This record gives sequence, structure tokens and C-alpha cells, in this order.
Amino acid sequence: GRVAVACGGTSAEREVSLDSGRNVLEALRARGVDAHPVDGIPALLDALRAGHYARVFNILHGRGGEDGMLQGALDALRVPYTGSGILGSALAMDKVRTKQVWQAIGLPTPRFASYRPGEDLGAAIAAIGYPAIVKPSHEGSSVGITRVLTPADLEAAIELATRYDGELLIEELIEGAELTVGILGREALPSIRIVPKGAYYDYHAKYIAEDTQYLCPGLDGEAEASIRALALAAFDAAGCSGWGRVDVMRNASGGNFLLEVNTTPGMTSHSLVPKAARAVGIDFESLCWKILETSLG
Ligand code: DAL
Ligand code: MG
Repeated sequence: GRVAVACGGTSAEREVSLDSGRNVLEALRARGVDAHPVDGIPALLDALRAGHYARVFNILHGRGGEDGMLQGALDALRVPYTGSGILGSALAMDKVRTKQVWQAIGLPTPRFASYRPGEDLGAAIAAIGYPAIVKPSHEGSSVGITRVLTPADLEAAIELATRYDGELLIEELIEGAELTVGILGREALPSIRIVPKGAYYDYHAKYIAEDTQYLCPGLDGEAEASIRALALAAFDAAGCSGWGRVDVMRNASGGNFLLEVNTTPGMTSHSLVPKAARAVGIDFESLCWKILETSLG
């Protein structure tokens, strides 16, 4: 039957999602799939109720599409879709509560405090110390994130993150290597080590810069095996399924710290899951096909 490629939407990651969506659409069509782009949830639900599509390839990033809301609506309509269900999507979109789950079962994650405007900021930052990183709890693509190296940077960081979210994550800044592990089906793909030209892998380094370096696999031997195992455990613990990507910081002594799970990772030409898949001989078209297959289970 016809496949809706759900993309765009209204989140801060709209442009990234449109870019991902174009790539997925082209790949599915090249494989003979009768796929069509649908921008945003209202248009998608109208089309589904009119019986236009048999399944959904979800490549909406951020709130609305990646956070369980769409997944619940699709469950109610009995329309199969790619990726995680309601619980995994909703939990992974909430960085604070994802970390609480990992902490509760002993998986390593940087020390953190949650903060809502009006609460005691002094107490929150005192629990973490400097350097710290301030993030909106429910955003993606590094939107609204600031490294806070000294107390002088704190207020502006809080102000920026508050523009995107009513709940913030204040997290210990781990110095070291940034790695990410793609998950496809029940397997972890090889890790990727990200080496940005600037100091940080921010929105610019993610989607615009051409000089960000990606090493895949990111580690060797036992270290590579253990980061993949950690990523799979973190993905399972967050209730996620189908496909996704787990972001990890690795410090100088080889300690891994889980940052977050992305349940609809980017599929742009700069994105990481396609690079990791390619490293094991899965080209972009095959990757899109395998992701589409996750809607069958
Ligand atoms: N949130 C972006 C799309 C990613 O994780 O790739
Ligand atoms: Mg993310």
C-alpha cells in the first residue's frame, strides 16, 4: 500500500525534518515504494482518516512527531508506523526523565539537575558545579544548548534554553570525545566519533559545516564492543524500539556517559545513522527499506 513519509511539522527542527524527509522519500521511491510526503500531523491524520495511506514512515523530529503524541494517534487509528511506540518516544523526548530511568538501573549518565524558571537556580547549579551544560529538556539538534564555563555565563544560558522549553536540564559537562551509536532493529551499528572543527558539535557543525570529521567505528576492540552494548541497554531501558540513535560522551579515562536517545534521528546528508549504516555495507536506500520494515513488527 501507499506509504506516508511524515516530515516537517512545527517543531524547532522543522527544516531538518524536511531535509530528512526529502532523502527518505527519494530512497523509498527508488526501491519502488509508493511513498508520498505529508507535512505535519493535522494533514497526516486527515489523509489517514480518508484512507490514503497504509503505513507511515515517521521522520518528524522533535515535539509532536517524536514525542509519543503522533504514535498514540496512529495506534488509535491502527496504522502501522516506523520506530518507537508511545512510551519510548515520550520518554526519550524528555532528557531529564530518561536520565532518571538510566540512573535508577545503574547506567552511567552525567550528573544533572532539572530546573524550571522560578525554582532555586543557586541550588541547582551548586549540585552540578562548573563547567556545566544547560539544555532545554525536550529539544533536539542542539537547539537552545549552552556550555556554561563560569557563573557569568549562567543567566544567558538559562534565558536562551527557556525560550524553547519550560523545563531545563543542567548537566555536568563531560570533557572528552562525543560518540553516537545508531540502533537498527535489535542491533547496534558501529559507533561514530565526532570531531568538530570548532570546540563543539553544535547546530552549525551538525548540518552546515563541511569540515566536521566523523570516525567510524569510533573506537577499537573491547571499547567499541562495550559502547555498543551500553547503547543497546540504554535504548531498551528507555522503552525504545525499531531504530534510533544513542548519544554518548567518553572521558579521558574511557568512561562512557549516556546523554540521550533520539527516536527519529536525522536522515540528512550530514546525519550519523546513514554514515554508520554505510560502514557495514548498508547503503541509504537499504537503510530506509530496513527502517520501513520496522513498521511491520
Ligand atoms: N534530533 C536530530 C534530528 C538527530 O538526533 O539527528
Ligand atoms: Mg537529540
